[in-house]
Formats: sequence, C-alpha cells, structure tokens
Amino acid sequence: MKLLYQQMLAFFGVLIVAMAIISVMFIRSTSNTVWQNSFNQLEEYTDVLKDHAVDPNTYLINTEFITHSEEILKKQNVHFLIYDATNTVRYPQQVADGGATAIASKYWTELKKGTAVALPELTRNPRNGKAQSMTIYYKPVFLSGKLLFVIAAFAPVDNIQSSLRQTEYNLFIAFLLSLLAAIVLSYLLARYQVNRINRLRQVTHQVAEGNYDVDVKLNSKTHDEVAALADDFQDMVGSLRDSQAEIHRQEERRRQFMADAAHEMRTPLTTINGLLEGLAYDAIPEESKGESIQLMRSETNRLIRLVNENLDYEKIRTNQILLKKQTFNAAEALGDITVQLKQKAEDAKDQLILKVSPAVLVYADRDRFVQVMVNVIQNAIQFTQNGTITIAAKTGYHQTELSVADTGIGMTKDQVQNIWERYYKADPSRKNTKYGESGLGLAIVHQLVTLHGGTIDVTSKEGVGTTFTMTFPDAETAPKQAPITHTA
Ligand SMILES: Nc1ncnc2c1ncn2[C@@H]1O[C@H](COP(=O)(O)OP(=O)(O)OP(=O)(O)O)[C@@H](O)[C@H]1O
Ligand SMILES: [Mg+2]
Repeated sequence: MKLLYQQMLAFFGVLIVAMAIISVMFIRSTSNTVWQNSFNQLEEYTDVLKDHAVDPNTYLINTEFITHSEEILKKQNVHFLIYDATNTVRYPQQVADGGATAIASKYWTELKKGTAVALPELTRNPRNGKAQSMTIYYKPVFLSGKLLFVIAAFAPVDNIQSSLRQTEYNLFIAFLLSLLAAIVLSYLLARYQVNRINRLRQVTHQVAEGNYDVDVKLNSKTHDEVAALADDFQDMVGSLRDSQAEIHRQEERRRQFMADAAHEMRTPLTTINGLLEGLAYDAIPEESKGESIQLMRSETNRLIRLVNENLDYEKIRTNQILLKKQTFNAAEALGDITVQLKQKAEDAKDQLILKVSPAVLVYADRDRFVQVMVNVIQNAIQFTQNGTITIAAKTGYHQTELSVADTGIGMTKDQVQNIWERYYKADPSRKNTKYGESGLGLAIVHQLVTLHGGTIDVTSKEGVGTTFTMTFPDAETAPKQAPITHTA
C-alpha cells in the first residue's frame, strides 16, 4: 500500500475512533442528564404535593389541589397518583382498566423504608391504562415515623426521547462533518509528509547519478524527524562530494606525478643515451670522451638522487622511517650547515647571516633536522642573487622556532600555495640545475617537519623575498612516533 494511503488511514483511523468515543460518551452523558433532570422535576412536584395533597389530621385527600396542580402542569403532561399506607390507589378515585394498581412489592418495601423510587420504563399510562412509555417517581410521606401515603408523579417519556433524538441527530450530522474534515485533513497531512519523502527520494536519485550539487532543504517550518533526516542527508551529500573531490584530486596528483616523474627522468636518460650512441659509433673525439663519461656519471647521479628522494618521500609519507629524536644544540648544527653552504652562497654572491643564541636547543632527529634546514637554506640561496639570507633560531613556549629569510625573487600567492606539492617548480624558467631541480625538496621537508610534530609556514612577496618559519616541539610536547608500518 502506498505511503499516502497508509498515512491517511492512520490519521483517519485515529480521528474516527476519537470521534466515535466522544459521541458515545456524549450521548450517554446527555441521556443520563436528561433522565436525571426529568426525575428531579417530578421530585420537585411531589415535594410540593406532599405538604398539601393530604390533610395530616383527617387523612383526607385534597382532590381539588391535586386536580388544580394537574391543570397547571397540563402542558408537561404530568399527573399524580396517591397511594395510602395499604398500597391502594386513593387518588384518582377511578382508574381506567389496565391503569394503576398496587405498587410492585419490591418497590413498596423500598418505599416503606423511606426511599423514593424512580422508574424510567413504565409501559402503560397508570391513569388511563393506555400503552405509553412513561417515567414515574414515587415519594413516600411519613408522619411521626409512620408511612402516611405515597405520591406518584408521572409523565410520558416522549418529551425526553424526542429531545434525545434531536441530540443524536445533531451529533450524527457533526459526525458526518468531522468525517469529511478527517478525510480532507488526513489527505493534506499525508500528502505533506509524502511530498517531503518524495523530495528526498528525488534527491537520492540525483546523488546516485553522481550529481552532488543538490539541495535537500525541505523548506518546512517544523523541524521534525523528516527535516532532521533531510539535514543529515545534506551533510552526507556534502561529505560524499568532498570525498569525491578528494578522489579526483588524488587521481590528478597521481597522474601528474607519473607525468612529472617520467619527464624528470627523460632528460638525463636522453643525455646518457645520446652520449652512449656517440661512443658506440665513435662519433665523440678521443679528447672529449672523458668529459662525456663525466657528464654521463653526473646524469646518472641525478637519476639516482631522483629515485632516492622519491623513495625517501614515500617512506616518510607512509611512516616508514624511524626518527632518532634527541635534544641537541641547534646553534651548533646551524653553524655546521652554514659552513657547508658557504661556497654556494658565495657563488650566488649572497651573504649568510646567522642570528642564533648559542644555547638554543632543539628536539629532533639530527640528520633529518639538517636535511630540512639544508633544503630550505639551499632554496634561499638558489632563488637569491646578491642578497642576504638570515637564519634565526630561538626557544619558544615548549618549542624551538626557526626561520630562514631571504631577499630573493619571492613568489606569488598561487605559487606559495603549491610549493609543498611534489615536483612543483614555481616557474620552470627558474630551473637552476646547479643545486637541484626535482621539485621534491620542500615536499620532503614538509613531511619531515610534520612527522616531528612541528609546523612549517612560508610568507613571500614577489621581488622582495621569502621567509620560511619552522617549529619543532620540545621533548615534553613532541608526539610519540606511531609504530612503523611495514607496507611496500
Ligand atoms: N626561497 C625561495 N624563494 C623563491 N622561491 C622558492 C623558494 N623556495 C622554494 N621556492 C619555489 O618552490 C619550488 C619548490 O621548491 P623545492 O625545494 O621543493 O624544489 P626545487 O628546489 O625546485 O627542487 P629540489 O627538489 O632539488 O629542492 C621551487 O622550484 C621554487 O620555485
Ligand atoms: Mg629545493
């Protein structure tokens, strides 16, 4: 069964059952009240009569008074009977055949005890004996503890029944109207819910077909479970979209990496191949052969470096290197590095300035720390001509802060964003084959610093210079290295 009908049935069912219960209860309580009112009325009449109908001294019935009262109550069709203490009708003197006789003994005993009796189901008129639904009220009257007489007031039930029938009819009409309202209301409510679910279905189909630019918002004011489901769904689509984008990005990076790696290797391989061909066909003069072999060696070294750096990068990335962390003097290590790079700086006519207080300590794997700093300083030298390169180190809060600032060519915002990517070279024309050109340096540096639990940032302005800042957490706050994973 369609959800629409299920929902309608549910709403409808609830409304109808509620209506039915209310109607039954209403009819019952109304009829009770109506009967009660009628008895109350009859009781009131008997109350009036009991004081005047019989003379307590002479026991004579005041026929005139009763007839007079009946005359007044003619409209309501109320009549009276008076029984004496022997259960004999004393008023009226004459009763038609089939009319009132003695009161049934079970009621008579009640009356003798002083309890009034109300009967709603008399089938004959006690006065004229005609078949008619009557309601009767008996009231015993006592004098000094002795039953004097019993007054009975009776009236046909037509009045009561017709007013009850009117109520029932009205209720029936109300019931029909609410039935109609229930159908309309349940349809509207059900359609509202079903529409919202259909909207979700529609969006699910779109997502299944790969369209993640969907809006699941249901525009409903009530924030119920369906709206919450729509919100969750929207979040899920968001995550799906993100992971899909990430997959694409990874795929693109992989493709780019393959292309770059092939491109990087092709140049030295072509050079070596050309030289080998020259040697094979004796096309290289004897005096140049040494030089050719030297060139081939340097190209082969370049290839080996490329392959090693790639392997190194992957190892760091997949957490396959073990850091031998220790606390050592950073000033000393940086001093060694500047000595090592002095020649390169001089070649580029750069001035290396070391701004480090002698007591700065750093907690890191010494070799990896040197590798990071060499890479960054070497880059600074590589992209700075006739400038200064300032290397600084200081102790911060639970960390060592290092910076390498140059006055070189700088980078654009776009370039800065990409320098951590493998094989990224901001501008191919910058290729400086003197120190390195693989575009792997910073990618490895980034991985290494991250593995130490540190940070690396860069600020740069084109034509003004670049500053790299790094932090290494101290032994207390540095993360423990996760166990080495031995994957391929
Ligand atoms: N100090 C700097 N000033 C200007 N540009 C820089 C600086 N450092 C890095 N870059 C830019 O970032 C790119 C990536 O640097 P990275 O060290 O990763 O590669 P590389 O130096 O080209 O090659 P290698 O792998 O041999 O280090 C560089 O090619 C350069 O364009
Ligand atoms: Mg570099």
